[in-house]
Amino acid sequence: MEAVTPAALRAMKRAGRRIACLTAYDASFGHWLDAAGVEVALVGDSLGMVVQGHDSTRPVTMDDMVYHAACVARGVRRALRVVDLPYRSYQEPQQALDNACRLMDEGRAQVVKLEGGGPVVEIVRHLTARGVPVCGHLGLLPQSVEEPGGYRVQGREPAAAQRMLEDARALQAAGADLLVLECIPSTLAGEIRRSLQIPVIGIGAGADCDGQVLVLYDILGITPGRRPRFSEDFLAATGSVPAAIEAYVAAVRDGRFPGPGHSFD
Ligand code: KIV
Repeated sequence: MEAVTPAALRAMKRAGRRIACLTAYDASFGHWLDAAGVEVALVGDSLGMVVQGHDSTRPVTMDDMVYHAACVARGVRRALRVVDLPYRSYQEPQQALDNACRLMDEGRAQVVKLEGGGPVVEIVRHLTARGVPVCGHLGLLPQSVEEPGGYRVQGREPAAAQRMLEDARALQAAGADLLVLECIPSTLAGEIRRSLQIPVIGIGAGADCDGQVLVLYDILGITPGRRPRFSEDFLAATGSVPAAIEAYVAAVRDGRFPGPGHSFD
């Protein structure tokens, strides 16, 4: 069982093999992600909502992320562990570097993820120049949804789409290894995917991405409230957690997920 690396994900992109990614917040689920062949285990700050019961990701702290990342690391042997830098933990280059190193040293993160383009690009450059592997995140930014226009499909207007394409290129040029695109039109995601060499992982970004990510609790149908349109309950049809995760991986791999009903124009 060979460990997944950013280089291996790039090779998958070049070979046209789709990448399966899911969130994980503890060792047991991390184990089942690995067993099902998930390539990327994302310790997302979505844990603020699905584990901690907050209304947004903003209350999540560095201590929370270190704790959950370390739990996941004990359960995962093969998947690449990507861990979110939480809200306001990467406002300045040195602060971002200190916090990224903490996630790597104490939480055993292999890649850190941070949200946004524009000024965040300089932070990404600061991290990658010092040996910290980075995953970018554009489109709907959960840490910013409380800001005007935050909680809707992003990049529908031509100027916003162009800005996102430029941000994506700038993140790649700054050394990012991966890019997550959340809730954007499928055609824009495809354009960004084709213009980058690094893998593009979509959530609500349609089928024309190099891989897909979903919140684990959504695919198990246990997130309270309404399931997001871009997600699917894989447990309902399979009857067990390991089978649900395997079904998700198979559906991503052979292009059955996401379908048109999970995507935005
Ligand atoms: O925190 C998270 O789970 C995420 C995914 C929604 C991509 O960032």
